[in-house]
Amino acid sequence: MSGQTPMGLAAAAAAAVRPCRRRLLSSATAAAAATAAATPLFPRCPHPHHHPHGRRFPFLASAASQASQSGQTTSPTPVPADPRAAVSGNLPFFDRVLFPDSFPVETPPAEETAPAAADEELASVTEAREETDTEREAWRLLRRAVVSYCGAPVGTVAAEDPECTETLNYDQVFIRDFVPSALAFLMRGETEIVRNFLLHTLQLQSWEKTVDCYSPGQGLMPASFKIRTVPLDDNNEAFEEVLDPDFGESAIGRVAPVDSGLWWIILLRAYCKITGDYALQERVDVQTGIKLILSLCLSDGFDMFPTLLVTDGSCMIDRRMGIHGHPLEIQALFYSALRCSREVLVVNDGSKNLLRAINSRLSALSFHIREYYWVDMKKINEIYRYKTEEYSHDATNKFNIYPEQIPSWLVDWIPEKGGYLIGNLQPAHMDFRFFSLGNLWAIASSLTTPKQAEGILSLIEEKWDDLVANMPLKICYPAMEDDEWRIITGSDPKNTPWSYHNGGSWPTLLWQFTLACIKMGRPELARRAIAVAEERLTADKWPEYYDTRSGRFVGKQSRSYQTWTIAGFLTSKMLLENPELASILTCDEDLDLLEGCACCLSKKRTRCSRRAAKSHIVG
Ligand code: GLC
Repeated sequence: MSGQTPMGLAAAAAAAVRPCRRRLLSSATAAAAATAAATPLFPRCPHPHHHPHGRRFPFLASAASQASQSGQTTSPTPVPADPRAAVSGNLPFFDRVLFPDSFPVETPPAEETAPAAADEELASVTEAREETDTEREAWRLLRRAVVSYCGAPVGTVAAEDPECTETLNYDQVFIRDFVPSALAFLMRGETEIVRNFLLHTLQLQSWEKTVDCYSPGQGLMPASFKIRTVPLDDNNEAFEEVLDPDFGESAIGRVAPVDSGLWWIILLRAYCKITGDYALQERVDVQTGIKLILSLCLSDGFDMFPTLLVTDGSCMIDRRMGIHGHPLEIQALFYSALRCSREVLVVNDGSKNLLRAINSRLSALSFHIREYYWVDMKKINEIYRYKTEEYSHDATNKFNIYPEQIPSWLVDWIPEKGGYLIGNLQPAHMDFRFFSLGNLWAIASSLTTPKQAEGILSLIEEKWDDLVANMPLKICYPAMEDDEWRIITGSDPKNTPWSYHNGGSWPTLLWQFTLACIKMGRPELARRAIAVAEERLTADKWPEYYDTRSGRFVGKQSRSYQTWTIAGFLTSKMLLENPELASILTCDEDLDLLEGCACCLSKKRTRCSRRAAKSHIVG
């Protein structure tokens, strides 16, 4: 159970999702019930006489704007004065583990950025050129997708498709989907919505969340949230707005959104860097939130690898697609979030051990990915000749990969020049599929070596017809077909070959591609991809994804006016025009991480192959 026990849920919702707790409640003590009744389940915004159709009375709007002008945040969660007190119970790990002294504790000095409230300056940068019709339309649609809570903007809905009758959860604000919206707003100097989003989702983090009486860790961030208007009493005369999060307990397949907390940290750092509002990251509740997320990610488990072990569908691909284990996307976001955390965590006695743990994990993680996930012509040839069943510390084929696993498509596909990071690595299993987001984010965060980063872009260029073709960018390549599709997806009719997550083309990925291209000094490549997208997006009504091997058709079940398609396009354009702003999202190579290696200092019988492989790590 989470530390908070808010229980005043609308009765119907409680009955639907928490049958056991309802039983518990009915037999609970009167005192407990009294506390429960007094503590609201959702963050609430009292809304007396609020019309159910969303119309507000002027005095309410002005009350909300006064609160925001006076610098108050909307209903912050009460936080203890000392963040350590709040999280110490959750962080025994950091106080127990011995870290080698070689890892620096200091946070690297944050790069100097423009002082606070650079809004106007930013706005003038982006307004220098006249917008195209497509951009103007995109801005209009992005603004239409904005949702407000207590009169203040807090996010954007996933899709605003007027022709679609079945909303499912596309009317929710998804954490991952909001990132490109946030970036577009930030680069335009409209920072309030991002600040509100960060603070409100932070409140949701510690919310009680349960699936059939089981509660996941306290640091989990929701996949999405929705603003609901609920009656304050039986007469339906007064209403209030509540934030209603989904941690996966309603999601299709009940998938836990591992990426949400990682994106939240990445966005927090970007917001603080671009606005200069470092006071936000230093807030006690924000520091506590970061620690809770990291505490979940860094806690001990049974795992042998520094990569995060997750279930299938825990990220952008939120359905069964055979990516359980150690999928690249999660590892790249994890690495990036750890790098960002080092910058945003306040250094004090309470964070010292955590910072050591972060550095230690970063070091091990980058080695692991650079060494074991990287494939190119040379590496595939090595795997092709692997000996198997090696039992020793010095095994070449550490994960006991049987060469027969090399798929036939890869033999012809791998170019002479360049390479990529594979999708997943487990004992006796390499998932050789190319996953775009993981590879692009590995470039942005410097999880790869600079040489590997160049190699990935060179592969995308070489394989343009497979990965971009008629619409950037394939979510993964190639698609699974026949028995493989049947067994791995569970015969998922949405993930049929070359559709949706199974080899579909997702225009939102354009912004991550642009970011990687800018970081590697290849903006012309991004320009080429944007031109392909720009030609079709308006006419096709900004679809969520495209189908077929070359991305020619609008996806069979694709939403129209998908917000992150719109925002991804705008963000790509703005990044290209202001490439210096890419630094709010990227991280540079940190050579200190390559030096630090636990095994050099440990007296235990541990050895690693890092020194032998150093040339490769530095690349
Ligand atoms: C789909 C996508 C997921 C996205 C959601 C809302 O489920 O797979 O990544 O967050 O739609 O757009």
